[in-house]
Amino acid sequence: MQRVKVGSDMIQVHDLHKHFGGFRAVNGASLTIETGSITGLIGPNGAGKSTLFNVIAGVLKPTSGRVTMAGEDITGLAPHELFHKGLLRTFQLAHEFSSMTVRENLMMVPAGQTGERLVSTWLHRGRIRNEERALRKKADEVLEFLTISHVADEKAGNLSGGQKKLLELGRTMMVDAKIVFLDEVGAGVNRTLLGTIGDAITRLNKERGYTFCVIEHDMDFIGRLCDPVIVMAAGDVLAQGSADSIMKNEAVIEAYLGTGLKNKVAAEIAEETAFHESHGAQPGLGAEAGNGGDGKPAGDL
Ligand SMILES: Nc1ncnc2c1ncn2[C@@H]1O[C@H](COP(=O)(O)OP(=O)(O)O)[C@@H](O)[C@H]1O
Ligand SMILES: [Mg+2]
Repeated sequence: MQRVKVGSDMIQVHDLHKHFGGFRAVNGASLTIETGSITGLIGPNGAGKSTLFNVIAGVLKPTSGRVTMAGEDITGLAPHELFHKGLLRTFQLAHEFSSMTVRENLMMVPAGQTGERLVSTWLHRGRIRNEERALRKKADEVLEFLTISHVADEKAGNLSGGQKKLLELGRTMMVDAKIVFLDEVGAGVNRTLLGTIGDAITRLNKERGYTFCVIEHDMDFIGRLCDPVIVMAAGDVLAQGSADSIMKNEAVIEAYLGTGLKNKVAAEIAEETAFHESHGAQPGLGAEAGNGGDGKPAGDL
């Protein structure tokens, strides 16, 4: 059933479970990703974010629950089937592609994903030349869009961490993506390239109508890009809202810090306060437990 329009539900996850043995990595999560949104997915390490992504993207079969895309049940479909529906999850470049150039990496995305056979390629080699020319043109457009034309002939393995992420994003542009799942897009990426990645995501969203779901620990990045932000903890959705409201949410701060750590921070503040009081000075830390003094929870969200 096709009923995609801006503001409608691109992805709905209903009461999703993924258990590994007795361990409930995803434990009854339900959420909606709206068409046209850049939805952030955050949560402490081990919350089940990547597992949820992998179930939605067909990499893992759910223990139970349902995933729909534009109203159609897509639960348990294989990644290549989802790929044809425009649902893509980026992966780190496979090792064997690192010796190919950046342009070649892009050019092989459509064929690689449709599983085209060598025999049929051989039988239609007249047609292939034209297709190759078209693919090359498309790849070059993608590289220009991502501002990395200058590395087109570079071996992919020689790219910086951030350039690799841009190439991963570029691979989604070689086909007609509708929704793209990005897992820890900023990991190992410098600030400047993280900005470029953020800009590319925003432009793909605005100019090409891509919907995104982005897992990222960098809260500045999430705050700048994502609305809404969904918070996962212990395999379930804990909260959802604007980045600002999420940052102020007690339950979210608690989930990140854990009760033990929060108590420890409180104890340290009490200790320091006692020290300063006995020495006639002000405590150096903000009064609120679990707060770095800048209104944000301490630590790398
Ligand atoms: N294949 C697996 N087998 C067993 N446990 C797993 C497997 N994959 C993930 N887990 C566990 O599930 C939990 C959630 O992992 P993950 O989804 O990677 O969390 P996140 O991405 O939020 O950090 C973790 O405790 C992790 O150890
Ligand atoms: Mg993860």
